[in-house]
Amino acid sequence: VRSIDWRDDRIVLIDQTALPHELRTVEVTTVDGLVDAIVRLAVRGAPALGAAGALGVLVAVRQARREGWDADTLHAAIDRVRAARPTAVNLAWGVDRARTRLAEGAEAVEREARAVLAEDAEANRAIGERGADLVAELVGDKDAPNLSLHTHCNSGGLATVEWGTALGIVRTLHERGRRIEVFVDETRPLLQGSRLTAWELADLGVPYRLVVDGAGPGLIARGLVDAVVVGADRIAGNGDVVNKVGTYPLALAAARAGVPFVVAAPESTIDRNTPTGDEIELDTRDADEVLGWAGVRTAPPDADALNIAFDLTPADLVTAIVTERRVVRPAAGEKPG
Ligand code: MRU
Repeated sequence: VRSIDWRDDRIVLIDQTALPHELRTVEVTTVDGLVDAIVRLAVRGAPALGAAGALGVLVAVRQARREGWDADTLHAAIDRVRAARPTAVNLAWGVDRARTRLAEGAEAVEREARAVLAEDAEANRAIGERGADLVAELVGDKDAPNLSLHTHCNSGGLATVEWGTALGIVRTLHERGRRIEVFVDETRPLLQGSRLTAWELADLGVPYRLVVDGAGPGLIARGLVDAVVVGADRIAGNGDVVNKVGTYPLALAAARAGVPFVVAAPESTIDRNTPTGDEIELDTRDADEVLGWAGVRTAPPDADALNIAFDLTPADLVTAIVTERRVVRPAAGEKPG
């Protein structure tokens, strides 16, 4: 099952806010509906957002036809999709790719959007294979039982069109018969780890244990983790990596402990227009996500919060970036851009 797809005349996506308790889909036929799905993280994860961006252009074109929009209204609507989440570069990338076909008509936009989805599915398989080889190489002892990996947020099939990036590596290792245990951190405040990654790993039959976000660096320091594997929302030309907030402490701990820190992402996550991570805008979200849980206020009534959703891991802490085409080693001075 694809996390996001085009069926008949609409986007059909898995509503990731309802998981793990309910597997339901949302059908999107309007730009407003798509922006809402992106903002509330019904669809999320950089590669899945790339697909959403490309399909968003198709939704906009069809809505423009139905409602008789002029070109300015159409472009403004497409721009709203593009800007719905600034950090994950794949969203803008997907929009821009499909938008280049606008002048050729709706059918050409649809072909391009479908190509984005197909290529993402293919890229993820390649990342899984290359990443599995890389992790085996980095941890050295290929015959040791129970490879112990730590991951953050969700970089699985849900975060992509299908299969996954960092979790795709875990999946490939599992399929190869490697015995693995995964430490999955909760990923406050929206719990992509304990809700989504746990759900995916359970489905795949990969053993995992949940840990609170603050536990990760200590587990790494105690030698309980062989490698950290995470996805990325944007990678700068110099190899700086922006990913879900809480990634940077894992990278610091991994560097200090001499544990490989591996970032898995498609080439489309590498932003060649951004030389370093300092230029990347980090989304902030509603303070209420931090001040309470499930509609219940947990912080004092007058408390405020800075809900920064991403952090920046400098290139020198990144052992390797694995894409569908190559392995880049930023900590050794290689640059992906
Ligand atoms: O805010 P989210 O849930 O979209 O954040 C997602 C992540 O940080 C993922 O690690 C990243 O997008 C890579 S997904 C393959």
